[in-house]
Amino acid sequence: MSARSVEPTIVVHGGAGSWPAAGDVDVEDRRERGVAGCQRAAARGAEILAAGGSALDAVEAAVRVLEDDEAFNAGYGAVLTRDGTVEHDALVVDGLLRAGAVGALPGFAHPIAIARRLLEHGEHVFLVGEGAARFAREEGFVEAAPGALISPRAQARLAAMARSAPRVEAGDTVGACALDGHGRLAAATSTGGTIGKRSGRIGDSPILGAGAFADERLAAFSTTGHGESILRVGLARTAAERVRVGDELDAACRFALAELAERTAGGAGIIAVDPRGHFAHAIHAPAMPWAAVRGGRLESGIDP
Ligand code: GLY
Repeated sequence: MSARSVEPTIVVHGGAGSWPAAGDVDVEDRRERGVAGCQRAAARGAEILAAGGSALDAVEAAVRVLEDDEAFNAGYGAVLTRDGTVEHDALVVDGLLRAGAVGALPGFAHPIAIARRLLEHGEHVFLVGEGAARFAREEGFVEAAPGALISPRAQARLAAMARSAPRVEAGDTVGACALDGHGRLAAATSTGGTIGKRSGRIGDSPILGAGAFADERLAAFSTTGHGESILRVGLARTAAERVRVGDELDAACRFALAELAERTAGGAGIIAVDPRGHFAHAIHAPAMPWAAVRGGRLESGIDP
């Protein structure tokens, strides 16, 4: 593809789930905060694309904005394990199948940046737990102070979960997909996982083909929702394979979600961008805030 022959495009999501969530007190504001956070993240990514930056730079920067926002289940404000701790999962992948992922990572504010550093290293694709933390420290990432990533909202959500019947509450995972002016694709996903999860549990988000996928011949995808269900159907890869057999992007995303609905009890959402700059967002879940910028034009909303 020739340089600057395509319109840079970015789409971000703020997680499929119930907006507002159990445990929220400011229920009126939650939907607006979700959309506003997605708008800020998409605008940041678009700024990078407009300046000639890469799709990888754009998705990393967009996800960092969402990791800093307590409205989302990522970075600061991520949901808590049953021990009251934060363990992050994150994945970034580009259209050449280069990828970096971290799982059950404690203590860092921007797990997506650590995943990106692993991608650039190229030796390994996926590091977990203390090994991932050691890699981050060796690379100069500074650990957050004890408790600094735990928000009052995350504590309220864990308490609400403990009061209710046992159930899995996922949601508010964040992600981004981008196409840059050189026709390169990238996708990124970042999450705290599920509320009250066991320490060491890793969901779909850092798993290539489940939580995100990108192939320059097909499209870039980021998913969100109930991790165990998304893992079972390989949601991002399922959508990509539908593009390969000729589906339009939107139809491919809907096919993958229909597969998830048929084969599992979980809910999920997915966003995508293809090499022509078409983007899609779809859910099989109660709600998902999203935002996109293409040709300098911002669109946003909350599905359905
Ligand atoms: N989709 C986020 C998780 O289940 O971990």
